[in-house]
Amino acid sequence: PTSSPATPEDAMSSTTVITNIASLVTNDPSQGDGSPLGLIQDAAVVIDGDRVAWTGESSKAPATDNRVDAGGRAVIPGFVDSHSHLVFAGDRTQEFNARMSGRAYSAGGIRTTVAATRAASDEELERNLTRYLREALRQGTTTFETKSGYGLTTRDEARALRIASSHTDEVTYLGAHIVSPDYADDPAGYVALVTGEMLDACAPYARWVDVFCEKGAFDGDQARAILTAGKAKGLRPRVHANQLSYGPGVQLAVELDAASADHCTHLTDADVDALASGDTVATLLPGAEFSTRAEWPDARRLIDAGVTVALSTDCNPGSSFTSSVPFCIALAVRDMRMTPDEAVWSATAGGARALRRDDVGRIAPGAYADLALLDAPSHVHLAYRPGVPLVTGVWRRGVREI
Ligand code: NIG
Ligand code: FE
Repeated sequence: PTSSPATPEDAMSSTTVITNIASLVTNDPSQGDGSPLGLIQDAAVVIDGDRVAWTGESSKAPATDNRVDAGGRAVIPGFVDSHSHLVFAGDRTQEFNARMSGRAYSAGGIRTTVAATRAASDEELERNLTRYLREALRQGTTTFETKSGYGLTTRDEARALRIASSHTDEVTYLGAHIVSPDYADDPAGYVALVTGEMLDACAPYARWVDVFCEKGAFDGDQARAILTAGKAKGLRPRVHANQLSYGPGVQLAVELDAASADHCTHLTDADVDALASGDTVATLLPGAEFSTRAEWPDARRLIDAGVTVALSTDCNPGSSFTSSVPFCIALAVRDMRMTPDEAVWSATAGGARALRRDDVGRIAPGAYADLALLDAPSHVHLAYRPGVPLVTGVWRRGVREI
């Protein structure tokens, strides 16, 4: 700042202009080239407090208190990682090793993490969560959703959600991850717990309710009962659907107007039609297919049918232990038939849609000032230069964090 602020109010709301941006992804099609990415070349962004105040060509940027030179690099919206499982303890290296020697992935490995998570202290869970969040932030993630699902008792599920809720508003109750080992002989009893006492204890900390609808986890009728009970408590549904096999998850998600059907790896034409007819976003999680050596979801088929696609990490210790959205973008482009533009849109604006948010995932006046500065001339480099740590600056809510 060149002069000291006149009042405390002025101090709280200082303006910053980021200039000399070679290429700016706004995700506002009314700006720049008019594409879904709303790309502006030789751009500037003005931040006022925690919000974006202005975007446009550098030469037209208004005067502000502070100035940051982007050095001819690219700026994109911070990533919106709309699917992760970050409240856990323990490690599943052995299971990964076995898989890479040919063993198949199954939901059964979740039990290993449940045992470790139950045994962990609050402090350990908090430390782990903070570490993965920091890791994600360094890679450009500024909004994230995270789930319970490794406690599977009323106490342990509520504890996970309480810990998560001090870090994000996007907290998901996943008591229905698998049937708790304590109820191995009484799955109906577990569904009664998840829709009863456990839901009552968890709902105050959560915005969303989720269920793993899959063989070996919960069938269509159980999933409907769980999501409906959650809705009655004010939670909004999202579904782990059609990951390991064909099944009822996707169509149930659309029927209940879930914000998102996640995974979508095994889809019939009827599933694709259902997604295209509703507002449910298809959230694709290529880290899971990478780490389980499974077949890739077909993003091209979904996009061509008119389905909104989001891209997220699914970061969890079993099926996808990556916090890196750039890695998922590279996979999506290489193996899921997405263009680089589509993948970057899906990891930002798509994630926001999957969380039914419009204040994140775009760089436009009124949105939160959540931005990532890339050490590259354009967003395409996220796929073109896989594995390279290109994120060199991150602003979250207007504050430079990296
Ligand atoms: O999204 N599919 C279910 N849940 C996680 C995997 C959890 C685990 O293996 O620990 C997923 O892939
Ligand atoms: Fe998941």
